[in-house]
Amino acid sequence: MTANSQQDGKSRQRLTLLAARARRRLAELGRRQPVRPGPTLNESLAQHGINRRDFIKWSVAMTAALSLPAKFAPLTAKAAELLNRIPVVWLHMAECTGCVESFIRTDAPTLDTLLFNYISLEYHETLMAASGWQAEENLENALKNHHGNYLLIVEGGIPTAAGGTFLTIGPHAHTGIEICRKAAAGALATFAIGSCASFGGVQAAYPNPTQAKGLSEIIRQPVINIPGCPPSEKNMMGSLLHYILFGSLPAVDRYNRPRWSYGLRVHDLCERRGRFDAGEFVQRFGDEGAKLGYCLYKVGCKGPYTFNNCSRQKFNQGTSWPVQAGHGCIGCSEPDFWDVMAPLVEPRKDRLFRTAFRGRGADATADKVGLGLLTAAAVGIGAHAVYSVVRGNFSNPPDPGGGKKADAPKEKT
Ligand code: SF4
Ligand code: F3S
Repeated sequence: MTANSQQDGKSRQRLTLLAARARRRLAELGRRQPVRPGPTLNESLAQHGINRRDFIKWSVAMTAALSLPAKFAPLTAKAAELLNRIPVVWLHMAECTGCVESFIRTDAPTLDTLLFNYISLEYHETLMAASGWQAEENLENALKNHHGNYLLIVEGGIPTAAGGTFLTIGPHAHTGIEICRKAAAGALATFAIGSCASFGGVQAAYPNPTQAKGLSEIIRQPVINIPGCPPSEKNMMGSLLHYILFGSLPAVDRYNRPRWSYGLRVHDLCERRGRFDAGEFVQRFGDEGAKLGYCLYKVGCKGPYTFNNCSRQKFNQGTSWPVQAGHGCIGCSEPDFWDVMAPLVEPRKDRLFRTAFRGRGADATADKVGLGLLTAAAVGIGAHAVYSVVRGNFSNPPDPGGGKKADAPKEKT
């Protein structure tokens, strides 16, 4: 038997075990009652004119996005149907509410948006009718009644200066720090949605007067970061589905971002990548190159330094994404992007940048493009070489010295 066929055999075995684990997990969830009575997923979809065929197509696409083989698609579909079996508590800290607004303010909801309505939101400040004392009581009840059994989603950075008093919520003026710590202590798994909850966001931009931080810096529990300003609804829903499917958190990079969605650079997946490799650049917004769809690196695109799957998942019901719309990526899913990516419409040139992979990344190539030191052909070769280096790093475990690894918590049933 060759080494390759041995490897194939092991992979098949691993997938069979993974599928068996998902089936057991889904069977267990299926025995639970929905957290709240309501229409089934099929009924909800039918109300919005989405038929079963669309749903199956969505589950195939989501399965592929999660880097699972196609035979997992029925399991993904089942996991979506069981999303209402686990309660969700969604907290808002210091932020603009743009992440959740981007999911709910749509005139043509996608399946991901509809699933967002289908999950059992036990507490959500943007969507609930309650306020003041009643809202605070609702949160207390949700944390108490579902202790050890809910998923926690946090949106927004958490101010920590002056004992956290730059952000107090409710009639008892609990600080964001207190609320997050209390909520995380009883959660099955915790997700930070958006760049503010993940890394502090604009609140944490220099000089950061409130000392705003990302959630993982103020709680002890593992946090899955879904950064972006806003993040794609698929990245968020996929991470929830992964938890429903396997009862564990997905593999993450050194910034605790799921690898299935943040494993490649925007640059690696960009439709203008061929232009970059060919040395065809927009020199100024509105020039002939802009009309021809040339690469936006010289007008500030930070795609070479940014890990995200925007060109695949897109925004606004999957219609477009920043580069397609004609503006460079501003690196919104990277830590401290307000500071480290500025100025947003100029190339980084020779300013070094710490990427998710031990400070290496596209700098070595892209900087030289900015400085005009390489010919177009050399740029292409260099870019592919860097890409290979980055790809090579994916098979390594996250740098133990450089970032925290999120361990999968055990679910209590
Ligand atoms: Fe695309 Fe930006 Fe990379 Fe150019 S620099 S190929 S526009 S991601
Ligand atoms: Fe953000 Fe860049 Fe995507 S700006 S939305 S990570 S293309």
